[in-house]
Amino acid sequence: MRDIDAYKVMVELSVNKEQKNVVVRPADILLDVLREGLGLTGAKPGCLNGDCGACTVLVDGWPMKSCLMLAVEASGKPVTTIEGLTDTPIQRAFIDHGAFQCGYCTPGFIMNCHALIQKHPQASDEIIQDWLQSNICRCTGYQEIKKAILSVLRRENLSQGNTPL
Ligand code: FES
Ligand code: FES
Repeated sequence: MRDIDAYKVMVELSVNKEQKNVVVRPADILLDVLREGLGLTGAKPGCLNGDCGACTVLVDGWPMKSCLMLAVEASGKPVTTIEGLTDTPIQRAFIDHGAFQCGYCTPGFIMNCHALIQKHPQASDEIIQDWLQSNICRCTGYQEIKKAILSVLRRENLSQGNTPL
């Protein structure tokens, strides 16, 4: 990070495995820099308050509400947005299980669910419930989203030769 003038700094961000130099104000939130500075509009502005999860991205592999993180805080940490996921099992499962309607919340849910599957490949019902609490959907039943998660966990378990959930 280096000063550009009294109000701006240059930060080096690692987004979707690409290094990007971006000029930001120290108070700029990561969500705005991703959307307006880098043109990555998959993460959505919702409440801007940490409640809805529409802005969720992965930072160091963990889901992070990008409306609550300053862009300068993300310097030097790998950031993944929905644009960085391609044809992952959870993306296919959302389609197969009809886990979205308007789709506004979907990138945030997919980032959260993708991280859940990576971090807890044997996730219990309780863990799934816990993780799903960080995102809000106004149109789809949460059951479809949960079914999508379970279908991926079952497949992974089966491929590892374990008993399905
Ligand atoms: S916009 Fe970030 S949590 Fe709602
Ligand atoms: S699908 Fe519309 S808000 Fe979730």
